[in-house]
Amino acid sequence: MAFKTLLLDNQDGITTITFNRPAKRNAMSPRLHLEMTAALDEVRYDTNTRVVVITGAGESFCAGMDLKEYFADLKEKPEEFARVGRLATEWRGRTLRYFPKPTIAMVNGYCFGGAFSIVEGCDLAIAAEEATFGLSEVNFKGFPGGPVSKSLANLLRPRDALWYGLLGRPFNGKTAAEIGFVNLAVPLATLHEETMVVARELASKDPNALRAAKDAYRFSLEMSWEASIDYAFAKEQELIVRQKDAFRNEGIGDFLKGKYKPGLESHGGSNQGA
Ligand code: COA
Repeated sequence: MAFKTLLLDNQDGITTITFNRPAKRNAMSPRLHLEMTAALDEVRYDTNTRVVVITGAGESFCAGMDLKEYFADLKEKPEEFARVGRLATEWRGRTLRYFPKPTIAMVNGYCFGGAFSIVEGCDLAIAAEEATFGLSEVNFKGFPGGPVSKSLANLLRPRDALWYGLLGRPFNGKTAAEIGFVNLAVPLATLHEETMVVARELASKDPNALRAAKDAYRFSLEMSWEASIDYAFAKEQELIVRQKDAFRNEGIGDFLKGKYKPGLESHGGSNQGA
């Protein structure tokens, strides 16, 4: 599919998807939702993609839903409104969340409303300190709809979710890190470089181990203790098959031979630590 609203780039196994509507501050139009659905499908099965980074072109990460092309233009077209709403909810709320490869939101600027679900749907998030976040819906007499309220419930402390959801006040990247909405905030000038350090570290690890780590965490959130333990045992068997037992033979085996210390470094690579 030829994309008009996205740019896709792959460097050393890291695919960067860039929202490319800078003149509209990368607001999510119906076309962007269609293209994100297709792009995520493409990179999901792309053997050259080990990690996905999502960011925005220009001064904005994403200004949320396109208020004109979605809410205004589709006002008299309820079927189309529902169709686009479903697509928009699926790729952020489901596809990204359960994506089989690690995902990082690289928040370079404005991040409003519906964009919160992109950040929350990604496994990790790194923001520019200068970025501006906001649950602006209440400012236009709306509320965090679609998957956004669930994103807030998933990730934020109740006081923060209601503070920002009710007041609609903007906050910067540093605050986003302090309240745990992103992992860390760095100066905009080093955002790309710092994000790539993390992406390369992920890309150097066993993709099957990363997938199991994601699945075990995300699905456990929704399971009883018994089901979660059973799932983890089943996942371990799956991992053994997928990796041809690499975690026991090479990972644990080389530790037992004294070749490396997994507490301090990665098999065949290194951990940055913190
Ligand atoms: N939907 C549709 N269009 C949007 C948009 C959105 N969410 N956000 C920005 N745009 C458009 C503007 O209408 C404008 O279009 P135009 O040039 O054709 O008039 C263009 O992007 C630039 O916006 P502008 O407001 O001039 O830029 P700015 O840099 O001064 O301000 C924002 C940027 C993001 C702070 C401001 O546009 C804004 O508040 N947008 C709404 C954000 C929002 O509430 N999003 C939540 C949606 S769920």
